Amino acid sequence: MTTRILSALLPQDQPAAVAEAVKLLQEGAVVALPTETVYGLAADALNAEAALKIFEAKERPRFDPLIVHLPSDDWLSRVANVPEGSREMVQRLTERFWPGPLTLVLPRREEVPDVVTAGLETVAVRVSAHPVFREVVRTFGKPLAAPSANRFGNVSPTTAEHVRAELGGRIELIIDGGATTHGVESTIVSVAGERLSVLRPGPIAVEDLSEVGKVEVASSGAKIQAPGQLPSHYAPRTPLVLTRDLRSFSVQRDVRTGALSWTDDKLRGFWSLRTLSPAGDLREAAANLFRYLRELDAAGLDLIIAEEVPDEGLGAAIMDRLRRAAAKR
Ligand code: TXA
Ligand code: MG
Repeated sequence: MTTRILSALLPQDQPAAVAEAVKLLQEGAVVALPTETVYGLAADALNAEAALKIFEAKERPRFDPLIVHLPSDDWLSRVANVPEGSREMVQRLTERFWPGPLTLVLPRREEVPDVVTAGLETVAVRVSAHPVFREVVRTFGKPLAAPSANRFGNVSPTTAEHVRAELGGRIELIIDGGATTHGVESTIVSVAGERLSVLRPGPIAVEDLSEVGKVEVASSGAKIQAPGQLPSHYAPRTPLVLTRDLRSFSVQRDVRTGALSWTDDKLRGFWSLRTLSPAGDLREAAANLFRYLRELDAAGLDLIIAEEVPDEGLGAAIMDRLRRAAAKR
């Protein structure tokens, strides 16, 4: 299968790109689309056969459920059963953070096929804020299941080219909406009564959620509720280790070592160097993270040394991805 990339970068190119994506989705095919977090591989969420194609293209294990992207907030009650005791909390969350990078895990409704929820009694839902994604899902008129558009276990794509590198030859169409804004996947929160539990840190920080309700962060020792919590997710192929301070790291002579620094872009002695944000801006760092991991991974290195970033706000999401990348053997 040849993979076409259609540009939706210019406003005048968008209608044709959107129309083509919607046509394929209506035929039950998968299409890669930009979101504000990372690129997603979308299919009709209410069509089990279509959703199954996502698992095939990604080589994703069937036990790993998909996120359902809604055309609008009012679709929530059609895919999820929001319990009485959570209603107010869910309303506060959706009013504040939707459309945007927040995924809510709630009791599912029967309409959502088992393949989408991987047989769980819950469904993960969000409303994307990306203009192209929004236009596609609204025109399609039904929810779209869309995990990140990478092969299972790999780093999520933040550009159309990354998607081609991951899924080229396996899917018909990629819509190019440019580099994604946030660069890390949405924050996943499960809601039980008034209690919020962060299953995956992301662009909506714990600090932001705390303004809405009481938040607990699922500890790494806890039972896995989201396979995104598997330690080895989001990993480059090159071994990666984390360090507090790159300046105190001494490169071994025979080990081709690349560095991913937090702010220092003048470091010497490494085979290659990428700097997340010379200005020390966590937003910029998150937006660069996966692209730099990919570039370092392609540089023929024996080892990547990544420097820790401040573990607060958006930094918690970056550190989560770096720790997982470091956990891969
Ligand atoms: O930003 C994002 O969330 C991107 C864009 C494309 O929307 N999507 C994304 O999807 O990151 P994916 O499949 O790569 O990650 C979704 C995570 C997985 O770790 C999955 O296990 C978890 O969501 N998940 C899905 N349904 C769940 C459920 N019912 N309960 C707990 N976790 C769930
Ligand atoms: Mg993923």
